[in-house]
Amino acid sequence: MNVSVVILAAGAGTRMKSHIPKVLHKICGKEMLFYSIDEALKISDDVHIVLFHQENVIKERLLCAYKQAYADGALHFHLQDHAHYPGTGGALMQGQNAGANAKKPFCYQYDEILILNGDMPLVCSQTLKSLCQNKAQIVMSVLHLQNPDGYGRVVMESGVVQRIIEQKDAKESELLVKDVNAGVYKLHKSILDLYLPQVGNANNQQEFYLTDVVFYAKENGIEIAALEVKEEEFMGVNSKIQLACAQEIMLQRLRERAMEQGVIMHLPHTIYLESNVTFSGECIIEQGVQILGDSHISDSHIKAHSVIEQSIIESSDVGPLAHIRPKSHIKNTHIGNFVETKSSTLRGVKVGHLSYLGDCEIDEGSNIGAGVITCNYDGKAKHKTTIGKSVFVGSDVQLIAPLNIESNVLIGAGSTITKDIEYGDLALSRVAQQNIKDGFFKFFSDKNEEKKEQ
Ligand code: UD1
Ligand code: CA
Repeated sequence: MNVSVVILAAGAGTRMKSHIPKVLHKICGKEMLFYSIDEALKISDDVHIVLFHQENVIKERLLCAYKQAYADGALHFHLQDHAHYPGTGGALMQGQNAGANAKKPFCYQYDEILILNGDMPLVCSQTLKSLCQNKAQIVMSVLHLQNPDGYGRVVMESGVVQRIIEQKDAKESELLVKDVNAGVYKLHKSILDLYLPQVGNANNQQEFYLTDVVFYAKENGIEIAALEVKEEEFMGVNSKIQLACAQEIMLQRLRERAMEQGVIMHLPHTIYLESNVTFSGECIIEQGVQILGDSHISDSHIKAHSVIEQSIIESSDVGPLAHIRPKSHIKNTHIGNFVETKSSTLRGVKVGHLSYLGDCEIDEGSNIGAGVITCNYDGKAKHKTTIGKSVFVGSDVQLIAPLNIESNVLIGAGSTITKDIEYGDLALSRVAQQNIKDGFFKFFSDKNEEKKEQ
């Protein structure tokens, strides 16, 4: 589309009460600002981000995540002159360094400009597209809310927008207005050129409000279309309560998308998914499961209360209560309860109960008994364990890495393995059992009476 997008992300976000910049707070594992950038890049190749508070932290993260878009010239950064021009209007101004142009807008590639708030992670490109297709000179987004608290109120007369009044500037009667400004606008560049320089800061927050551009335009007879939009897409996130609400909405979308692709979910409202999780084939996800990071689950059954982080699971069953930590690749495998894996590749393996498998590779047909531990860390470095095909590891074995265990090996229960094992061997490392006659009564001498009665 021939539209330039500007995303405002320079605010301090004080209501968030956090040392993390507001727009970097995550929803389903992804930064709020990244959602708006991703949607913006779907409709425009000229996206501008305005920064100020913790500019360096945010910019560094963006340059890392959007390297390509930045190299392609689709992403631009602006530093708001916050000291002189605070506020959403100030965010669009060039600032002191531009001299006489201080209050003028930046340069955009296209004539139509779409303005988004960086704290609005739920908005979808499809909705933005239809907003941009409206031909009015200014299109603004309006929410009708039972509880309008925190938002700017949109004062209308016979359906026509008159002005937007911020909560902090509103009179008692204005606070009752339930039509609020959602903070997304589409307007022609010339409107910013004309009216942005007129915006002042004579209000209770002493800020330069973008909403005043709408007021000046209206005073000059410019047509304003107020489109009613939905809270599920346009809610602003200013506090940790709103962050949690927005995440609920996003989670519901992610679960529905998965179920539409054929995933069966038990008690879906208890399942936590992150935005990059993908599914293929037929999967069952039981209640209380968390799947995080760039995980991919294919034709698998993840049982109740398991946690999967940044891993690939194919044709396997996992859990209940299993913990699959980052960089695990589990294929054709059965993983039972209380099993933890990390950086491990398991192909055709059975691990039924209570094991820790870290930094290991285990091949087809191998069975890992209950309580087996790979001792992968010696206090200084991590070491690898490799286990071949059809290896039977008895219960409660400690595998002290680095270790190489070839195929068709049998390891007796309770062994502590410190040396590599060759093909076909049995390894045992435990003290032979000794039964001492009447040892019980020798130890508990006060029970000797009982023995005599026998
Ligand atoms: C703003 C609107 C309000 C609307 C609400 C919708 C104004 C004056 N008010 O209020 O009418 O109902 O959004 O969510 O526009 N920002 C900057 N620089 C600044 C200040 C803010 O870039 O100096 C950015 C913030 O990072 C944020 C966005 O602009 O992403 C909105 O700022 P915020 O302070 O949250 O505005 P609201 O008070 O919510
Ligand atoms: Ca806001």
